[in-house]
Amino acid sequence: MYRTHDCNSLRKGDIGQQVTLAGWVHVSRDHGGVIFIDLRDHEGLTQVVFRPEENAELAKQAHTLRSEDVIQVSGRVAPRVPGTENPKLPTGDIEVIPSELHILNRADDLPFPIDAEVHNEDLRMMYRYYDLRRPQFAHNLRVRHRIAKATRDYLDSQGYVEVETPILSKSTPEGARDFLVPSRLTPGKFYALPQAPQQYKQLLMVAGLEKYFQIAKCFRDEDLRADRQPEFTQIDIEASFVTPDDIFAVTEGMLAAIFKAARNIDIKTPFDRLTYQEAVGRYGSDKPDRRFGMELVDLGDDFRSSSFKVFRGAIDAGGVVKAINAKGFAGITIGQADELTEIAKLFGAKGLAFIKVENGEWKSPIVKFFSEAEKTALQSKLEIEEGDCIFFGADKWEIACEVLGRLRLRIAEIQKLIPKSEIWDFLWVTDFPLFQWSPEENKWNAMHHPFTRPKTEDIPLFEAKNFPEIRAEAYDVVLNGVEIGGGSIRIHEPELQEKMFETLGVSPEDQQLLFGHLLHALHLGAPPHGGIALGLDRLVMLVCGEKSIRDVMAFPKNNRGMDLMANSPAEVDSRQLRELKLRLLEEKK
Ligand code: AMO
Ligand code: AMP
Repeated sequence: MYRTHDCNSLRKGDIGQQVTLAGWVHVSRDHGGVIFIDLRDHEGLTQVVFRPEENAELAKQAHTLRSEDVIQVSGRVAPRVPGTENPKLPTGDIEVIPSELHILNRADDLPFPIDAEVHNEDLRMMYRYYDLRRPQFAHNLRVRHRIAKATRDYLDSQGYVEVETPILSKSTPEGARDFLVPSRLTPGKFYALPQAPQQYKQLLMVAGLEKYFQIAKCFRDEDLRADRQPEFTQIDIEASFVTPDDIFAVTEGMLAAIFKAARNIDIKTPFDRLTYQEAVGRYGSDKPDRRFGMELVDLGDDFRSSSFKVFRGAIDAGGVVKAINAKGFAGITIGQADELTEIAKLFGAKGLAFIKVENGEWKSPIVKFFSEAEKTALQSKLEIEEGDCIFFGADKWEIACEVLGRLRLRIAEIQKLIPKSEIWDFLWVTDFPLFQWSPEENKWNAMHHPFTRPKTEDIPLFEAKNFPEIRAEAYDVVLNGVEIGGGSIRIHEPELQEKMFETLGVSPEDQQLLFGHLLHALHLGAPPHGGIALGLDRLVMLVCGEKSIRDVMAFPKNNRGMDLMANSPAEVDSRQLRELKLRLLEEKK
């Protein structure tokens, strides 16, 4: 037996007991020949003290111990010397006085200290198996496990059945690039790794399963960010004979169960709902962070006949004038103003007008263009006071909203407006547009995916070719400004699905080639169905209070999509390529 107890279990009541512990030397200190070891295992820390006067031979051996050596000690539980108890540690009242020490393995020079902040993330990734020894990761991985278990338990209790779907599959359009896998048995052909199990879960509904879920691996070749990985996990759900309200209820119930299991927190259900129009119009984002105010205010009515050309011109061109009031931000520095102007331009604005309110005066080159009536309207709608700073967006609705939405988030960061106390602001965003115009491709694309059903009352708009007005029966669930999930009611009528493909510019031949199986399935009595998928990694990240999903995944890729530990992606043997009938193109120098 390697141990009788773990390193987090001994208390005052165990004093006098003979115990055996095993783990890693977390820290070792030499106080005038007395060796203090913090012994660490997955559960916690226990202090082990080697005193030369008790056992000179053992103390000599202990003197050679270094951080991360793996040891086993047997000994007696003793009270700590009065005054040296550590109230921060659950085992802080006791220590172990060893009578035996076995060095199970030595650790070489360490790549970095385990108990300090290390900012070189690449270095940490290279030694991920070592980095994961940090207690923070042990905690995060356990929370992740508990969330996955609560998910399975809850969905099982609601009659959902977990079904695995293929990883070697066929391209399904979720908006990213596919990862491809060449087929050796059919040279020249490729599997695609699933961006999501979307088509399979719909086919399971055609199969009559009625309630499906899966904790599913998804693969998307896209640019990476703090909340995006090429390989990630979804809680994927689909059900038949459902309306959006049914999907909202099961999702809310599941999230409540997850928060209860992971953090013993009772979240408030049902969640608020905002339409896409409201969310973007008021917060400049389809995933609004409502933990602070600074909402977008519409000024269209007030500047319709303004003599300020920038505002009037935007309205004349069918656009809007909107503004946000950053309270107490009149002291904005030139550097901050430049940064915010850069952000505005990055998201399509032609400029960034703002007014600082200082010493009772509105300071901005644009104020001279405003009429008294316009000033009065601004004053009352934006509740302008001394010390405020007002930012304007005059542009197409989409651009003005997005620009102010981005500024709103950045200003909240600068002003530290997000409360430190934990807030769990869940909400549903509904009624997304079905289509999105792509100027680059000069065509309509699906805003979610091509299987999303239009709202029944908007279906006649197809005939009128009024595509921008068609709303989808689609919804996202947002937590504190992060999109944690999205889904929709699907098209179950083959004619409507064909009309959808046609609008997206998929030719009848391509429809058969790419989606023939699904179209056939819809012809064989497909039930009405719908579902949702939640990003498990993002959810765990928020529950753990982390900033990146990399901190809640055991073996993530870095921001260039690389696994620095295993050194992947890697070159392959030319024999492997020959078997696959593949040849690499020479890079042109
Ligand atoms: P969607 O593409 O919105 O929908 O994905 C659902 C959720 O998955 C998470 N997510 C990601 N997490 C980490 N890294 C990524 N690269 C990444 N991409 C997405 C997000 C997102 O909300 N099949 C549809 C769902 C449906 O219609 O039922 C789908 O995949 O949290
Ligand atoms: P101009 O008349 O182009 O010099 O612009 C006057 C002010 O309005 C400057 O501060 C510009 O940065 C700002 N501005 C220009 N276009 C816009 C716009 N579309 N939205 C908001 N502010 C703008």
